[in-house]
Amino acid sequence: MTRKIIIDTDPGQDDAVAILLALASPELEVLGITAVAGNVPLPLTAKNARVVCELADRVDIPVFAGCDAPLTRPLVTAEHVHGKTGLDGIDLPDPKMPLQDAHAVDFIVDTLRQEPAGTVTLCPLGPLTNIATAFSRAPEIVGKVQDIVLMGGAYFQVGNITPAAEFNIYVDPEAAEIVFKSGVSLTVKPLDVTHKALTTRSRVEAFRALGTPVGHAVAAWTDFFERFDIAKYGSAGAPLHDPTVIAYLLKPELFSGRYINVEIETRSDLTRGMTVADWWGVTDRKPNALFIGDVDADGFYRLLTDRLARL
Ligand code: BDR
Ligand code: CA
Repeated sequence: MTRKIIIDTDPGQDDAVAILLALASPELEVLGITAVAGNVPLPLTAKNARVVCELADRVDIPVFAGCDAPLTRPLVTAEHVHGKTGLDGIDLPDPKMPLQDAHAVDFIVDTLRQEPAGTVTLCPLGPLTNIATAFSRAPEIVGKVQDIVLMGGAYFQVGNITPAAEFNIYVDPEAAEIVFKSGVSLTVKPLDVTHKALTTRSRVEAFRALGTPVGHAVAAWTDFFERFDIAKYGSAGAPLHDPTVIAYLLKPELFSGRYINVEIETRSDLTRGMTVADWWGVTDRKPNALFIGDVDADGFYRLLTDRLARL
């Protein structure tokens, strides 16, 4: 049986690879892609999501535009990582497939209302604004979500956009707080795991060696954003964050973590968006998230390359 998912995303090269991985995987039925403002402003994320669908030859996937700013704060973007377009690295044609008329939040709410309870998984790959807005507007849908598997946060790696916070949670901490406190079944891919899934020369060349437009684009995107992370961390490659979410749905055995309490810092300017993760169980706060800490990186890249070869 296929698993129904909604991908909520701010593409972003790593978001794009995550979308491609999902579209390449017959175990997953992508009900829709909902764009949110994040790495770049909403008009670009909504466009980029369609660029990626067309690259995969999947113009049948409905793409919706959602919230253009965080719940209460001005938008912070990450062009310094992803480039001006969000998908810098290769020039791809402007999409011909239309954006859906409905708002992304309405699509999320309506889908969860219509589908049987426990059959739709949400995969947020950007700030949690769309998901939190849907939960606030229609609280009855929270109990109908099968799982949320998201990329965001950090404990051991602490932060990437500030010394204390990971980008997706930092951009909209109030939205993250709503989701983390919602009681939904939650699996979190923090920097702690994505920083163990680094691109290497041979991994990037394996994408290129697929010899397909998809393989070529993924190698070009990876080449582009690698430069930023290599300069920043002095590492051999860059973390490919968002595809870890989709890989978890396909092969959870590649990952391990702990079911712990995770709270979001919303009040401090210094540590805004910090994910205060009780990894060591030093509080009696109730666990609310499976917080992933480790990955079989070779297995992850093997899965990714094998699946992208199908597109
Ligand atoms: C996250 O922020 C974005 O830049 C990436 O797409 C990823 O979702 C990593 O912190
Ligand atoms: Ca993202």
